[in-house]
Amino acid sequence: MRNASAAGPARPGRREHWSSRLAFVLAATGSAVGLGNIWKFPYITGTNGGGWFVLIYLVAVLAVALPIMVAEILLGRAAQRSPVGAFRAYSRPGSPWLGVGWLGVAAGFVILSYYSVVAGWTLHYAWLSLRGFGGLEAGQIRETFAELYADPALNLFWHAVFMALTIGIVAAGVHRGVERATRILMPVLLGMLLVLLVRAAGGEGFGRALDFVFGLRAGQLTPAGVLEALGHSFFTLSLGMGAMLTYGSYLRARDDLVATSVAVAGLDTAVSLMACLVIFPIIFSAGLAPGVGPGLVFVSLPIAFGQMPGGAFWAALFFLLLAVAALTSTISLLEVVVSHLMDEYRMRRRRAALGAGLATLLLGVPSAMSGGSALFGAGFQRLTEPLFGAGQGKNWFDLLDYLASNWMLPLGGLGIALFVAWRVGGEAREQAFKAGSRFARLYWAWVALLRYVVPAGVGAVFLHAIGVL
Ligand code: PFF
Repeated sequence: MRNASAAGPARPGRREHWSSRLAFVLAATGSAVGLGNIWKFPYITGTNGGGWFVLIYLVAVLAVALPIMVAEILLGRAAQRSPVGAFRAYSRPGSPWLGVGWLGVAAGFVILSYYSVVAGWTLHYAWLSLRGFGGLEAGQIRETFAELYADPALNLFWHAVFMALTIGIVAAGVHRGVERATRILMPVLLGMLLVLLVRAAGGEGFGRALDFVFGLRAGQLTPAGVLEALGHSFFTLSLGMGAMLTYGSYLRARDDLVATSVAVAGLDTAVSLMACLVIFPIIFSAGLAPGVGPGLVFVSLPIAFGQMPGGAFWAALFFLLLAVAALTSTISLLEVVVSHLMDEYRMRRRRAALGAGLATLLLGVPSAMSGGSALFGAGFQRLTEPLFGAGQGKNWFDLLDYLASNWMLPLGGLGIALFVAWRVGGEAREQAFKAGSRFARLYWAWVALLRYVVPAGVGAVFLHAIGVL
């Protein structure tokens, strides 16, 4: 490994660190577990027919995402810097590799701007549920979602509330903010999920849900499904934009990196599967279809809750769970940008959190208006038709999601994998991997996955994105 001191010492004593390995695992799992697990994974499992899709997703996590996670945390821990500084520490001045770090910071900013809008919906739904949303008819529930989507002021309000919560926590610091919040919120989240799961396991529809999620049925798997599973493994594990790298930069100890990454990826996957086993039984026993797409959680599920005894209570619990999961993810998205501003421009944390948070709030305005504004909705759809084909244009919100999930994260993940596997000097990389690890003998397997399997997998995602595969 090149000498990190080229970028100057990492100002030891100034950088905050996690107080324990558990604190890191909780924060990193908090980043990973979010809307991607409880909203997106169930609906893409639904649209892809379950079974095989889930299996392929598990393979993608093990063979592609997990090696990248180890690489990200390792790079952050070794450099004690946020993404741009970490790349600078191990490359020549002005090296194009720094671009991967910049891409990460930009991705954090972009993702947070629309993620916070959807996160706001979860708060709105939790509030509606508490007010007795359970009593509404199916048609009214469909209308509620359509109305929310088309109401810029309501979207903006909840987006602002969510950003304010995120800014408040990040401004308080690694210890008193991120660590304290995740230490409280993660057990709450797991507790709520378990309560919902136990309820689901005792009810009807559970057997069908198990079969849908784990049963392998012939003729189900499509190439598009395989690539969607692979792409999702990046998003759900917060990879490719330096979130894990930044959290890794607050690690001091020579912890077992592999064991830590396996714990984070394992918990994240467990939450995704549990979310399916909570949602599908409710959907099936209400006689609804699993493959409806993004409306699964915001339309179908509330309809099903409405038919259930005590449905309002369970609905409120579910949407609070979703809000908590989203909050521990938005914290990490903002932290990437804040850490960057602190490291690169020596900004104070509070000022960085407020500045970056307000800028994100602004960038989120067009997303909040995508459902209800002619310009950012239909206007953007028309504008992007030449790119995506007639009738396939994307509004502002969908466009950002598409750019971030299909391009920025896979590109960033590929960059990090190639950088760590080819660029960073072998001896120090080996030492960093093996330090304190029970999995030292997996070193060469890890390097081989980074060098060959990750580029092949990500390459396939790109070829698919441009319509070649
Ligand atoms: N992993 C989060 C989710 O699944 O909802 C989303 C996310 C958070 C992506 C943080 C990227 C990131 F840096």
